[in-house]
Amino acid sequence: MTATKSFRSHLIVNVVAALAGLAAWELLFALFLGKWLSSFWFFRIHGLSVVGLLVVAAGSAISYVEFHGLGSQEGVVRQGEPRPRVALTFDDGPHPVYTAQVLDILGEHDIKATFFLVGRHVLKYPETAKRIEQEGHDIGNHTFTHKDLLTAKRRILLSEVDKTDEAIYKITGVQTKLFRPPRGALGPACRRALVEKGYRIVLWTVSAADWSGISPKAIAARVLRYTKPGGIVLFHDSGALVRSEGASRGNTVKALAEVIEKLRAKGFEIVPVSSMLSDLAAAEALALEDGRAAQAPSLF
Ligand code: NI
Repeated sequence: MTATKSFRSHLIVNVVAALAGLAAWELLFALFLGKWLSSFWFFRIHGLSVVGLLVVAAGSAISYVEFHGLGSQEGVVRQGEPRPRVALTFDDGPHPVYTAQVLDILGEHDIKATFFLVGRHVLKYPETAKRIEQEGHDIGNHTFTHKDLLTAKRRILLSEVDKTDEAIYKITGVQTKLFRPPRGALGPACRRALVEKGYRIVLWTVSAADWSGISPKAIAARVLRYTKPGGIVLFHDSGALVRSEGASRGNTVKALAEVIEKLRAKGFEIVPVSSMLSDLAAAEALALEDGRAAQAPSLF
């Protein structure tokens, strides 16, 4: 798997932020703090520079894991066939305000999207969850509590996934086999457990970075710049940095119509993730039939 542009930009942001912090420290040290702090041995060797370098290393590692996962990648879908089709996906909902606004805009443009739902939000906002199903969108599982799965034990993963499946089924009648791990990070034991349960683990090619508080204009510009044929775009219709909900997604809502209209103007058809998966499966079957398995677009 080659690095995607969004991986590169994410990596650059991490490294630049760490280097900027380092430079600021060095400047402070040179201008004001040096004399006073040099009485402490660890500052004499610019101890925080070492810390800064560790931060750069950790930032790079986090970027790598977020965009590439750990270990082999059976069951993981990162993008669709390279046709002019794109899937819009929304994580962390349902939310009574933002999901409803997103659904209104999708409806006005006659678009089907994909919603990766947090189980406890499904139980908290059942009417919104029902509306997603009634309006024909794909529904996927995004754990019950927005659990970090990088280091989670298999037992915890299964409990998170099963509780969410039950909630989704009880409220919407949908039995989903789509899963997206929170933050896109998944340890190998969790990935294997999901594959055994028949899940497709759906990641993304472009993050709208709407969680970071950027403007609607910046969200739209980012999505339009990085979306390629077969792209999967990640938005958030709920969520928060630390808790599972609470942040404003007003900017996501404001960016959405422009994103849809401009993607269409560029010739993209907007489809739910399930359509992309059937595209991939068809392409792979065709390639196997033709004896060109080696060139088959990889499902995994
Ligand atoms: Ni999430």
